[in-house]
Amino acid sequence: MYDFKTHIDRTDTGSIKTDIAPESVKDSGLVPLSVADMELSVAPEIIEAVKLAADKGIFGYTYADREYSAAVRSWMKTRHNFDTEGFTLITTNGVVPALRFAVEAFLEKGEGVVIQPPVYMMFANAIETAERRIVENPLVFENGRYVMDYDDLDKKTSPDDVKLLLLCSPHNPVGRVWTKGELARLGEICAKNNVIVVADEIHNDLLLNGAEHTVFATIPGMDQISITCTATSKTFNLAGLSCSNIFIKNGSIAERFKKAADRAGAGLVPYFARAATIAAYTRCAGWVDELNTHIASNFELMYSFIERELPMLKVIRAEGTYLAWLDMRALHLEDKALEELVLAHGLALDEGYLFGSGGSGFERWNLALPTDILQKALTQLKLAVNKALYAE
Ligand SMILES: Cc1ncc(COP(=O)(O)O)c(C=O)c1O
Repeated sequence: MYDFKTHIDRTDTGSIKTDIAPESVKDSGLVPLSVADMELSVAPEIIEAVKLAADKGIFGYTYADREYSAAVRSWMKTRHNFDTEGFTLITTNGVVPALRFAVEAFLEKGEGVVIQPPVYMMFANAIETAERRIVENPLVFENGRYVMDYDDLDKKTSPDDVKLLLLCSPHNPVGRVWTKGELARLGEICAKNNVIVVADEIHNDLLLNGAEHTVFATIPGMDQISITCTATSKTFNLAGLSCSNIFIKNGSIAERFKKAADRAGAGLVPYFARAATIAAYTRCAGWVDELNTHIASNFELMYSFIERELPMLKVIRAEGTYLAWLDMRALHLEDKALEELVLAHGLALDEGYLFGSGGSGFERWNLALPTDILQKALTQLKLAVNKALYAE
């Protein structure tokens, strides 16, 4: 049994989540439930491997050597049924940089990239900072779950200057683990309209209650039109080690992507990331299983609390990720007023509007934390909601 209970004080560690949280949150005794890293210790096997690497005494330039590549490819095969033989493995210092390289590699300025909001805000950012055009194919909320709008997707991907789609699979923040059928339908439309799919599968291991992740590139034909982005960062809480693994089968797509990555000076594997990744992918499958059970139980706690105490709110049922998507539209608050309300109650959440169309009135909660902290945060939420409902 691994430890998912201990509180770790991250104050003054340079943590983006902790050290630059608003003062009302710092004073609340709660941890922020925003930025997607975990308030849970890294697996002991990884800590041991990183310590051993430190003991070597030289932290030099490192690359994706045979041992590293074998560990990454083996995890993809055993965990995801993704045989990466014949795929080029390109390492980048994060998935977000990889999204940027793809946007720059395949489009001229002004050309269109499809995203499916509400979606991880760095998708829009990667397109905008490269001066390419965002084309929205919004998700539709139907019978309690989010689904894709294929007719709209076909329409949006038809113009010749729309050349790329950033797919979030599993989806942050709505928690969908797309089925093989859904992905195949998306792929069929993209293939017909000559659109390359960048499948951001960074949340691929974070699966709840038996949900099954399908690697987009394993769908027949899709390996020729896709880029698969993976990393240990979310699964194993290693975001600060800045390392991701990108798989591409199609030779010309690989070449163009690699050129863009090389131009930006990417390609090395950070020294400690190498040690951590090998340990994670060869020794920590059991840790991930226990983590997923822990996260699923935090979700259950949140569902039952909201149903019982705050039935006017709705938590979207997640199939994957450790991110809960809470519908607070029943409070009828403007985005800024909602943000101020939760902050005043010590809750640093990710505001729904940051995720683009369809996000207004929602809050994203990070549930990768000890359960007692979540319990405390939910109690604070109840106070906040009561304040909004009953304050004169
Ligand atoms: C869908 C998605 N992609 C990418 C990232 C960040 O990737 P990286 O830290 O590897 O750049 C996140 C972080 O939350 C994410 O949710």
